[in-house]
Amino acid sequence: MSVIDEVKQRLDIVDVVASYVPDLKKAGRNFKAICPFHAEKTPSFFVFPERQSWHCFGACGTGGDAFSFVMKKEGVDFGEALRILAQKAGVALSPPERSEAQQQSQKLKELNEAAAQYYHHLLLNSSVAQQARDYLARRGVSEKAIEDFQLGFSPPEWEALRGQMARHGYSDSDLLAAGLLVEKEQGGAYDRFRNRLMFPIRSSDGRVMGFGARALDDSLPKYTNSPQTAIFDKSSVLYGVDRARSAIRKEDLAIVVEGYMDVVMAHQHGFSNVVASLGTALTEKQVGAIKKLTRNITLALDADAAGQMAMLRGQEVISQTFSQPSSVAGWTDVRYENPYNARWKVVILPQGKDPDEIIREGPEEWQRLVDGATPVIDYVFQVVASKVDLAELDGKSAAVDQLLPIVSEIKDPVSQAHYLQKLSRLVGVNERDLASALSRVRARSRARQRDPVQPSTLVSSLQAKDPLADYCLSLLVRYPELRRCSEELSADLFPHSESRQLLLAWRECGDCDSIRTKLDPALREYLDSLTAKPLPPMTETQREEAMTDCIYRLRQRWLRDMKAKEEALISDMQCGDAAELDEVQRLALEINVQLRQAFLHKQKRTRSSEVGA
Ligand code: UTP
Ligand code: MN
Repeated sequence: MSVIDEVKQRLDIVDVVASYVPDLKKAGRNFKAICPFHAEKTPSFFVFPERQSWHCFGACGTGGDAFSFVMKKEGVDFGEALRILAQKAGVALSPPERSEAQQQSQKLKELNEAAAQYYHHLLLNSSVAQQARDYLARRGVSEKAIEDFQLGFSPPEWEALRGQMARHGYSDSDLLAAGLLVEKEQGGAYDRFRNRLMFPIRSSDGRVMGFGARALDDSLPKYTNSPQTAIFDKSSVLYGVDRARSAIRKEDLAIVVEGYMDVVMAHQHGFSNVVASLGTALTEKQVGAIKKLTRNITLALDADAAGQMAMLRGQEVISQTFSQPSSVAGWTDVRYENPYNARWKVVILPQGKDPDEIIREGPEEWQRLVDGATPVIDYVFQVVASKVDLAELDGKSAAVDQLLPIVSEIKDPVSQAHYLQKLSRLVGVNERDLASALSRVRARSRARQRDPVQPSTLVSSLQAKDPLADYCLSLLVRYPELRRCSEELSADLFPHSESRQLLLAWRECGDCDSIRTKLDPALREYLDSLTAKPLPPMTETQREEAMTDCIYRLRQRWLRDMKAKEEALISDMQCGDAAELDEVQRLALEINVQLRQAFLHKQKRTRSSEVGA
């Protein structure tokens, strides 16, 4: 039995959830509570002991097993959730064996840490760093902030770091892999960072992954950053997140600024929930990292960026603010959390000022700006309204063209109604006419959606094993060409976290070896069992058919499962309020329709393959 199975067997999901959600109450055969993942008044979060699963029927629309619950609740990855649950269950985990890739990244972190210490030491002590110390003093950076952020100085020499590291036994090739040296064409290497103020960039657990390095005068480029390395990816970095983490959790808000200096200055003045996106629009990965800490994000945009945005159309403003707003696919359950959500706000900074200056001139002013942040969608309304002539017919219709599609994307009905009303007031068109236009927009976007089924979660049988998932995944890991026909496979179709994790790893990797390195060591055994699973010999066409068939079976299973859970819900609500019951029944009808479609499709397929045979 694997440790994962052992943990599952020893723990009851009801106890696991109850330890985080003290108000979990019995409701028939199941348990319910106010959802711990979103704000609500009536409980829509259910735990199903017989299935050892949970599901939120409210705004989250997601669910899973004990592992996925802990992952979501603690904001940790699968491996960490396993460690937490194993400890609860009293199951001993063997110390994780390190793969080669992990050893390499361990080494790169070590090197970066050593470099950060070296640069920091020079900044504090070396006479060549006098200019850098003066610079920081001029900019009002305190000694404590220099210490806290471990700021440093790279001396104006070609081989200072290289020499220093060589003395500590680090090789050129490791230093090159860490991005600390640059390779010469004629062989050899030299220091990448010279005569610059050094900002070590740390991951949320405090490890140095790379550097930002500022020139001390007006020379260009102003900043040189570490290149992409095995551990550093600029698009996923949030500068300051290691120091901001706990404040973000506590205040339930993350403030995103652009620059290193802005973060240092904010923290120095006690605004500890500030992180930087490093001068780019917020990426999906950065949002993902923030979402582990809070769902409230406020972006500080400088007046120039805001001005440039005002040139854009409504939809474009959103995509400039967030670099991939509508590519919901890769976002783990953000179906109800897109930038139209009122939790995402912007602060437009006064012309020519960045947060660093504002805070230095007066921390209260910064606080006032943050308190007055505008929801992104209201900002889009402002932008659109400022560009069209609302007194003219074509201006009104341009505003409706740009704003109505955005309003149609809002998932929460109350807030959608609010913005519909706002649009109606803005253009002076009555709300009923807009609402009917809205349903046309919706119908169009629904028709565009190829896939009618939007599975949000799957909870299957009590049994710990899931042969269907195993079969499906073993096809995937065995036959790379199946990637083509597996786009519709959603992680939610798999009830068990192991299968979900494997699917996610497979999504990110080309081949089996790299999946192995991506996976938590505890899951490698599972991967091995899948690659070893005997499969009948199949032609390429048969494999594709097998895959398509798997997907349909997984879907049907998911839908049936949703039905079963709804019944539990409906019986629990018999005494509940009528509107709620209506909503559940509406959902039930929708699922019936989807279920019928899935069966029809299956029948068609079976029939056509019979004809073919
Ligand atoms: P800014 O130009 O606003 O710099 O760029 P800053 O952080 O406010 O620095 P100071 O106040 O002039 O010292 C914002 C961010 O964009 C990235 C950096 O992350 C910077 O902090 N950037 C900027 C670069 O990566 N390279 C550059 O050449 C410029
Ligand atoms: Mn600045």
